[in-house]
Amino acid sequence: MRIGILGTGMVGEALAGKCVERGHEVMMGSRSANSESVTRWAERSGGRAGAFAEAARFGEMVFSCLNGARALETLQVIDAEAVAGKIVIDVSNPLVPLAGSALPSLKYGVDNSLGEQVQAALPGARVVKALNTLNCQVMVDPGRVPGMHHLFIAGNDPDAKTEVAGFLEREFGWSADRIIDVGDITSARATELLMPLWMRLWQAAGHADFNWHIAGYRP
Ligand SMILES: NC(=O)c1ccc[n+]([C@@H]2O[C@H](COP(=O)([O-])OP(=O)(O)OC[C@H]3O[C@@H](n4cnc5c(N)ncnc54)[C@H](OP(=O)(O)O)[C@@H]3O)[C@@H](O)[C@H]2O)c1
Repeated sequence: MRIGILGTGMVGEALAGKCVERGHEVMMGSRSANSESVTRWAERSGGRAGAFAEAARFGEMVFSCLNGARALETLQVIDAEAVAGKIVIDVSNPLVPLAGSALPSLKYGVDNSLGEQVQAALPGARVVKALNTLNCQVMVDPGRVPGMHHLFIAGNDPDAKTEVAGFLEREFGWSADRIIDVGDITSARATELLMPLWMRLWQAAGHADFNWHIAGYRP
């Protein structure tokens, strides 16, 4: 499958690297197609480098792993028509610096989310909020965390969520019983709001190889 990765940070690298390893054609997008980060990644991995708009056009499926506070303005450079009908997996969290704190805060609160705004900005896309509640190394290798643990998916299109769950199982090793569908895209409010607690746990643990385990949940 052709996969577009919007983002050159550690999340973009982890997802793009795993997708290349799994035999997909991957284009990683950046603000500039010639940026050092994206051209170096392409040389190293055998993937392709592009600007965000090119990567969005290229992918049959697109991951958005942008700086969360800047994601909406960044997405303006892509042609919404280029992703119409495609699955866009929004992995970003809208983190913003918080004065006087070592940990960031969230740009949106209980009544809005980045996931919803990505769907509104790309109305023809089938946006699925996923993978934003765990570390990027665990995203592509769930075995890093022992025992049962879960991730959450949210989105308006049930078929898109089924396709994403299948992709995560096949390509990244997330068995179906580890993926919890938490509802439509407004549920991104809840999954993004897990971030303040995740960051406190990370600070206390001193590592990121942990994840959520929802005991006893039966839909
Ligand atoms: N780190 C994790 O394990 C983890 C886990 C779950 C979710 N997340 C979320 O995933 C997203 C990606 O995280 P990340 O650490 O990989 O990358 P990041 O540093 O948060 O974002 C990097 C990407 O954002 C783009 N960007 C656009 N405008 C920008 C601006 N004004 N300033 C800075 N960057 C800008 C960069 O473009 P260029 O390529 O042009 O530089 C780059 O592609 C974040 O929203 C994060 O909260 C992270």
